[in-house]
Amino acid sequence: MANKHMNKDLIESIDSAENSNEEFFSVNFGSNKVKIFFEEEACDWVWNYKYLHQQRAIDIKTQLNSSLQLKKLALITYFFRFIIPDISNLNEHISTQTRSILDIGAGIGLFDLFLNQIFNHKASFDLIEVEKLNEIEHVTNNPEYSKKLDAGIKIKPVQTLKKLMIANNAENINIISNTSIDEYHHKKYDLILSFRSWGFLYDLDLYKEFVTKTLNHDGIVITNLSIYDDSIEKFYSLFTDVTLIDEAANNKRFLGKNLK
Ligand SMILES: C[S@@+](CC[C@H](N)C(=O)[O-])C[C@H]1O[C@@H](n2cnc3c(N)ncnc32)[C@H](O)[C@@H]1O
Repeated sequence: MANKHMNKDLIESIDSAENSNEEFFSVNFGSNKVKIFFEEEACDWVWNYKYLHQQRAIDIKTQLNSSLQLKKLALITYFFRFIIPDISNLNEHISTQTRSILDIGAGIGLFDLFLNQIFNHKASFDLIEVEKLNEIEHVTNNPEYSKKLDAGIKIKPVQTLKKLMIANNAENINIISNTSIDEYHHKKYDLILSFRSWGFLYDLDLYKEFVTKTLNHDGIVITNLSIYDDSIEKFYSLFTDVTLIDEAANNKRFLGKNLK
């Protein structure tokens, strides 16, 4: 069968979306069953931002002969391609002591929605995003690889995030625009994370002050750093303890603790 190499959990999630009348999809993670409601703009974000993965979604839809709307199926495949590996990679660094989380460049915040549901304790999340994107950057240090968005395509991450959090009734997930972080300098975070954003798409200096001010004394920072500039060096200069926890073709993921 064409789908014999496809992830069984992915197929089950696609089935769950079809069975929910396309309202949500569910994912089994250990003893937890996580449920994520779709929202149109969030599906558009995946389709437009993660455009390199469009063909994969089309292929899966064909192979499974699925009736699910293509952009919803693309959101599920994005979830399995990025969010599940992120959760597995971070699992051992998250504990019941992790009560306040900051996610810099959260995209549509699927990681945070997921984490919020697998926690057995109450936690609060702040997610930083930009109001508007005019192009999609790829980290190669070559501006030629930035994709300019077509005239009809609008990517408004803050607005999209807010809509998705409302659709999922996630009242403890707060959205912050990158232009208003000054109002949040009093906050304290146990976990600051940034997947493929801070120190990867833009300079580490951009949130350096914010992160050093708001990290709890025993908190940890996890971020993917570009291998094409001095981000890794800069990260090492901030913390006494730095550990490499993952690697990809154009970045390395580090964990930092104990600010210098
Ligand atoms: C590659 S995506 C990663 C999204 C999500 N963290 C993930 O891993 O799926 C990078 C994100 O960084 C956001 N971003 C770009 N510039 C930013 C800035 N100055 N401050 C915060 N976020 C930014 C983009 O809007 C985009 O959502």
